Amino acid sequence: MNDFRAEPEALQQQQIAAAERVLRSGWYVLGNEVKTFEATWAERCGVGFAVGVGNGMDAIEIGLRAIGIGAGDEVITTPMTAFATVLAVIRAGATPVLADIDPETALLDPLSVERCLSSRTKAVLLVHLYGQVKAMPQWVALCADKGIHLLEDCAQAHLASWQGKVAGSFGTWGAYSFYPTKNLGAVGDGGALVTNTDAIAQQAQILRNYGQSQRYQHPELGLNSRLDELQAALLSVRLCWLEEFTARRRQIAHAYYTGIQNSNIQLLAPPLSKENHVHHLFVICCEQRKRLSAYLTEQGVSNLSHYPIPIQHQSPCQDIQRDPQGLSQAETHAAQCLSIPCHPQMSDRDVAQVIEVINDFK
Ligand SMILES: Cc1ncc(COP(=O)(O)O)c(C=O)c1O
Repeated sequence: MNDFRAEPEALQQQQIAAAERVLRSGWYVLGNEVKTFEATWAERCGVGFAVGVGNGMDAIEIGLRAIGIGAGDEVITTPMTAFATVLAVIRAGATPVLADIDPETALLDPLSVERCLSSRTKAVLLVHLYGQVKAMPQWVALCADKGIHLLEDCAQAHLASWQGKVAGSFGTWGAYSFYPTKNLGAVGDGGALVTNTDAIAQQAQILRNYGQSQRYQHPELGLNSRLDELQAALLSVRLCWLEEFTARRRQIAHAYYTGIQNSNIQLLAPPLSKENHVHHLFVICCEQRKRLSAYLTEQGVSNLSHYPIPIQHQSPCQDIQRDPQGLSQAETHAAQCLSIPCHPQMSDRDVAQVIEVINDFK
């Protein structure tokens, strides 16, 4: 699904130079590399502040705690996400409530979100699943109307945009993951919280560092969740390649949308505009997913499901609150979705081969 060893030699050399710079600097945690990356990332996201943290899950937990969401508060989100999204809500002390998805995109369904609202709802936590942002003005309006926060889990959607505005800049904050396989990935764990609100950024800086405001002063019970210098330096290098890599992902997705034609397989709706989607994953749906997966593997085409088990079926979440009308679309999608290779190191030949193999599936 990824091939880091096939990345351009120039990128490898830049990474080695950046790593050497950090090693020789003698400063390894929360230093100038982090500050530089935070400033660049904030600028690219079109927000005032970025706070580097240990990973994407912590970015969500820290973001929730930084705005005072915790015990007794409900946060509406999706069952079709990485477990980390919901775990972060629980770790912040809040109560996750699951709304159903739109089967065309696998993104949250606003009507289901409305059914999940209660007097305790404090936020909607959107997940820009597979790399897509959609209908952002409607989400902004819905949250403003209800007087609740719009929060964005951007772990899969680095620099996806809607009408010129970038993921993470629409609501109170956005949480990014830089896990190695993400569109912008570190060489280990990393994450960032992005926001336009100075006070939230300051509180996140406190929370990521044991709740420390000044040396040895701890007004909060925080986490140890700091982005280190090595990861920040490597992220600064990899950020210079992100645009090119995203363009390649879009080309591959376009080839799949036009080339995959098999009545046993359904594609999700293509994005309205290419900027809306950064194709972190390309997902197809098939009623005979197990058979398709085995066939692809046998033909040498990697595949994985994102996600085969929706959150409500994970054992700690069986009693999780949810849309009173159920989560039937998420159940169906989880049973049928299959991600096929879509990464910048694929050649045109690789892409053509994936299409041919999929079209031959009977
Ligand atoms: C949608 C989503 N949210 C959150 C996360 C958590 O990110 P991390 O692994 O950096 O904690 C991930 C990563 O798997 C993700 O895909």
